[in-house]
Amino acid sequence: MPIKFKLNNIEQETDVGADVPLLYVLRNDFGLNGPKFGCGRGQCGACAVLLDGASALACLLPLSAVAGKHVRTLEGLGNRESPHALQEAFLQEQALQCGYCGNGVLMAAASLLESNPNPTEQDIRKALRGNLCRCGAQGRIIKAILRAAESLS
Ligand code: FES
Repeated sequence: MPIKFKLNNIEQETDVGADVPLLYVLRNDFGLNGPKFGCGRGQCGACAVLLDGASALACLLPLSAVAGKHVRTLEGLGNRESPHALQEAFLQEQALQCGYCGNGVLMAAASLLESNPNPTEQDIRKALRGNLCRCGAQGRIIKAILRAAESLS
């Protein structure tokens, strides 16, 4: 039986299997490469998406968990022509280095700003607890999120 859900504001359905991890479905069946496969065990945050507005780890979610819900990926956040304030701010602050954590950091930050438009540095650190960055770009990432919050206020 096909599973129906909204993906980046478009109604979708697929019958690839209820137990298949959402991350595989997004990347392999819908061609979305924003969400990254990092650890595959819920420990790095690279695969994060927004599930009904809250940051969620796509590697841990079976497809059945998103039935009837709205999944937003990095591709749904903004694009080259119309970037999200976070994407603009990350470019301005040169906040990413290798970029592998970028998807998860941006999605966690988007979730934070949607629930808390004026976060403190402490709020940001707390929101990014589950996002590993091995390059050491955390300082620039925090500055970028503060910049994005300011531009949205
Ligand atoms: Fe999902 Fe690491 S790939 S948390």
